[in-house]
Amino acid sequence: MAALSILFFAFALLLHGASSLVPKTLIVNGKGGGHVAIGYHLAKELTSKGHDVTILQNDDVDSSKNPFSSYADLTTTKVLNKPFDDTFTYPFKELEFDFVFDNSSKDPSGPVESVLLKANPAKQRYTFIGSAGIYEKPSSLPHNSQLTEAMPVNSAKPAAQFEKALQESSIPHILFRCQYMYGPLCSKHYLDYFTHRIKSSLPVPVPSPGTQIVSLTDVRDVAKQLSKVCDALPPSGSIFNTGTFNDLKHTYIDVANMIGEGLNMKPDIRLYDPNSKTDFPFRASEFFVKSDKSVSELDFDGGIHELKKYIPEIVKSFEQRHPRVDTSKDEAAIKSVV
Ligand SMILES: *[C@@H]1O[C@H](CO)[C@@H](O)[C@H](O)[C@H]1NC(C)=O
Repeated sequence: MAALSILFFAFALLLHGASSLVPKTLIVNGKGGGHVAIGYHLAKELTSKGHDVTILQNDDVDSSKNPFSSYADLTTTKVLNKPFDDTFTYPFKELEFDFVFDNSSKDPSGPVESVLLKANPAKQRYTFIGSAGIYEKPSSLPHNSQLTEAMPVNSAKPAAQFEKALQESSIPHILFRCQYMYGPLCSKHYLDYFTHRIKSSLPVPVPSPGTQIVSLTDVRDVAKQLSKVCDALPPSGSIFNTGTFNDLKHTYIDVANMIGEGLNMKPDIRLYDPNSKTDFPFRASEFFVKSDKSVSELDFDGGIHELKKYIPEIVKSFEQRHPRVDTSKDEAAIKSVV
């Protein structure tokens, strides 16, 4: 009998130990925008690492749209929809989560942001997923030099202000700055610009010199990169650029040629004066981040997905959506040859 109760006690202890080993993770997801699929892929990634995942999001998301319409795939993830307005109160206990990933916050004085900053939600790390759009690259830097985490930022941008609020708080935090993404469920189709023009045998205006490198990363690699925070536990305050390391080699001209190959057509590339106004989907001057810091400090594998291999999906998606693409600015741009 004593042996049995000792066994029972040991078993209960084991169960208790096991349950407290399951990290609880909250994803505060955005409600829209081209990169909102990160939340979905991050939930998948963390679940596969054994996390107990909850998504908190604005209740006015359009659930008929991607990625929200695919949430049924996230079978073990809990989803909590709340109005993200002045009535917002923190719906969880203090320190209920080991990790928080926030891809929603902007202005730190916003109704949800101010509550999150006061709530002390994460025991281990509060990870803010912002944007490399806050960098201000000094014009003195030579062509194709990448943006590093030490580059100055534009403190007027809301994402930079939220970063600052975290830095001034006592919350253990990590900052990520992301660039262009593609991949499953991504609603921003950067490459339609190229696909439409090549498919319609129209010239493809590319800002001169066309050799600008672009950081285009598969969203699944970004999700994996972000999730590495939970294993590596980098020091609070660490800043990382997000993006592929292994596939960071494509210039604007390469991208046009890759789409051309996917369509079996040769793109008619025309270089234009980068100062003229067009709908080109990336910045006219080169603007790319390198993510070597997360390779060395987070043990990120650098990304396993390649843009080239994903081109057939990009072409297929274009053909299914038939997007309207405005080419009205092209002619003037092409005339502006440098
Ligand atoms: C979420 O992350 C994406 C990718 O970096 C970024 O573009 C977007 O601005 C972020 N959203 C918010 C609301 O911070």
